[in-house]
Parts: sequence; C-alpha cells; structure tokens
Amino acid sequence: TWDSCQFDQFTKVAGGDEFRGNQADRQRHRFFRKYKYLWDKYQRTACVGCGRCSRECLSRIDPVAVLNRLHQQQSLPAPKSSPAAEYRPELAEILYVESLTESEKLFRLRMPHPLEFEPGEFLEISVFGQGEAPFTIASAPERSDEIEVVVRAAGTLTQAMHRLRPGDTVGVRGPFGCGFPLERFNGRDLLVVAGGMGMITLRSLVLGLLARRDDYGRIMLLYGARTVDHYLFRDELLSWHREGNLDCRFAVTQGDNSWGVTRGDVTHLLKDLDLEPARVTALVSGPARMYRAVNPLLFRWGVGEDHLYLNLERHMKCGLGKCGKCRINDICVCESGPIFPYARVKHLKEAIER
Ligand SMILES: Cc1cc2nc3c(=O)[nH]c(=O)nc-3n(C[C@H](O)[C@H](O)[C@H](O)COP(=O)(O)OP(=O)(O)OC[C@H]3O[C@@H](n4cnc5c(N)ncnc54)[C@H](O)[C@@H]3O)c2cc1C
Ligand code: SF4
Ligand code: FES
Repeated sequence: TWDSCQFDQFTKVAGGDEFRGNQADRQRHRFFRKYKYLWDKYQRTACVGCGRCSRECLSRIDPVAVLNRLHQQQSLPAPKSSPAAEYRPELAEILYVESLTESEKLFRLRMPHPLEFEPGEFLEISVFGQGEAPFTIASAPERSDEIEVVVRAAGTLTQAMHRLRPGDTVGVRGPFGCGFPLERFNGRDLLVVAGGMGMITLRSLVLGLLARRDDYGRIMLLYGARTVDHYLFRDELLSWHREGNLDCRFAVTQGDNSWGVTRGDVTHLLKDLDLEPARVTALVSGPARMYRAVNPLLFRWGVGEDHLYLNLERHMKCGLGKCGKCRINDICVCESGPIFPYARVKHLKEAIER
C-alpha cells in the first residue's frame, strides 16, 4: 500500500472529518513532524541528511532550503543541545591515578562541568581508538566536577585505561541510570553487603550515607573478597570503622588470614547479626551468584522484600535505553537500574536466578 502524509485523504476519518485538508497544512505538518516535534522530544531530527528528498522531489521542493528559511524566520533562540548530544563524549582530564589492588586502579577525573548523581549511577568512558565501556561512579554523590572511578584491567579497553597517566584525556558520557534512593533509607538501620567489585558502587553509597550520618540508624558493612589483598578502599573502610561511623565486617575465601577476618564467603558474616531485621534495609552489590546465596538468608532472617536493593550490572552499550543490549525481558537495566528494589526484579528469572 502506498500512502503519504501529503495526500489529501491522509487525515480523513470515518466520520468524514479531514484535519489537514489543504496542502499548506500538510506541508507544515511534514516539516514539524520530522524536524520540530522530534527535536523537542529527543533533540534530534528524523533526517540523516542524505539529500534524497531534495533530489527526487518532482516539485523541486528542497527541504534544506525550507528548513533554513524557517530557521531564519523563527524568533526562538537556538537550542543549547545539539542532536544526539547524549551519544557524543565530552573530554575529561585524568588528575590522579592510584593502584588499589593488583588489577584495580582508581582514576580521578576532572569533568567538563559539575555532575550530580545518585550512588550507583555510571559513566560511559572511552579511550580514544580503543572503545567505550560503563563504569560506576565511585566518589561521593555530591555535585562536583571531580569524579572517581575504579577500573579493573579486564580486556582491551580497561588495559588501555590502566596505561593512562595524569594529564591524559578520556571521553565521558553520562551519568546514566538510577542509583540508590537515599531519602528512602531515613531512620532505617542499613546493612550494606559487598562482594568483590560490588564495593565500587557501595563506596559511593557509603560516602553518601556518611555525609548525612544522623539520618540513619546503625550502618553495617559486610564485605567478602577472595583474599585480603583484593579488598578495595581498605584503609578508608578501616578508618571509618575505627571512628565508629560504620561497623565493617570482612570475610575472605582464600589465602592467608593474617587479618583475623572471617574465613568463608560473605554469607558467613550474616550469622548472628546484632541488628533488628524489621528495622533493616539491605543494600547488596556483587555478582549474581552472591544474590542467590545472600537474598534467601536475608529473607529468612526477617528482612522485608520491600527493604532489599540490588545492583544488577549487565553488559551495556549505549547506556541510554536505545540499543537493547542490557535488557532483561521488559526492563532496560541501563535506564531503570542498575540499582533495583528487589520487588521490581524478582519476577525476572534471568536477573538473579540462572
Ligand atoms: C553499569 C556497569 C558498571 C560497571 N562499573 C565498572 C567499574 O566501576 N569498574 C570496572 O572495572 N568495571 C565496571 N564495569 C564492567 C566494565 O564495563 C567492563 O569490564 C568493560 O566493559 C570491559 O571492557 P574491556 O574492553 O576492557 O574488556 P573486554 O575484552 O570487552 O571484556 C573483558 C571482560 O569484561 C566483560 N565486559 C565486556 N563488556 C562489558 C560491558 N559492556 N559491561 C559489562 N561487562 C563487560 C566481559 O564479559 C569480559 O568478562 C561495569 C559494567 C556495567 C554494565
Ligand atoms: S534528506 Fe534524506 S533522511 Fe532527510 S528527509 Fe530527505 S530523504 Fe529523509
Ligand atoms: S545499554 Fe543500550 S539499552 Fe541499555
């Protein structure tokens, strides 16, 4: 079937009304639909600029000329954002690099402008010529143009990042996603459970909690890692523990136990907790296998389903809810997460269960 928004019957409805009966209205609609309404909503047009419509038009209407004319005539100031700006990285300078463990480095970046974000949100960071990947913001969730991320050398891009030095530049997009809703935790005791790299997200969370320490009851951190050398932010955690702001408990599955920490995975730390489960909100960040072990124990202990939050990290590409790479059934993790209330994802088998 051939149809066109330029045909006179295009808007004719069964009752006989025709909403754009004259050619001028149809032309107006054509230009507004492709170049104004989409711009208003998504800051991009429906035109890739191939020029085919200018070339092929039998009446020799040149949309580029029409658009330029409309642009000259309009009185509104030009929009600040440009089409598809959210896909275009801005430049951030590396201010400081520190090795936290054998495979993880902390990078402090100077952003082009101050960022505001919730703990758990992430940036897409690119190394030129290597690619782009998502990284959780590890610094305090306060408005700042200095941001910290921790990068584990995993593959091509992250190894290239590890070779960068202060003064080098990376591309950044974001912040993206939804983080922990701190205001919902007011007055609650908080049980923060970290596994491995999950601590990167929780460092930002803990910094946010400590900044408003009086708003919460007790804060306990249970942190499981492979060996004591794999703990991230070790000195920081120990100093918060000593100051009495945060009750930190550690477990290791392997290696020397000179610290005297609990031997075993993080579930061993859930035994004999001196907290009242009905007052507890649990904030858990780690690999999915950790959720499979920890969640049932939390529920058995008495934590309510409404008081459990999880960090679901999935492979991502655009970070914008467009490419679909991070989808779990009806949920786009990059948009609605990666931090989710348990109730929101418990029906998704693939989210936690295999
Ligand atoms: C929301 C989110 C936050 C993240 N935060 C951090 C962080 O704070 N620090 C950190 O070191 N890493 C983080 N990651 C993982 C990081 O994005 C990947 O390690 C990175 O993409 C690997 O790229 P690569 O080219 O070095 O490795 P590759 O050679 O591409 O792969 C190496 C490993 O990384 C995994 N990986 C590859 N692409 C992705 C991807 N897009 N998302 C997740 N895993 C991937 C692969 O499965 C493989 O195991 C995060 C991922 C997500 C989705
Ligand atoms: S220039 Fe190409 S993409 Fe843009 S409206 Fe014309 S035909 Fe469509
Ligand atoms: S990463 Fe593209 S839709 Fe989520």
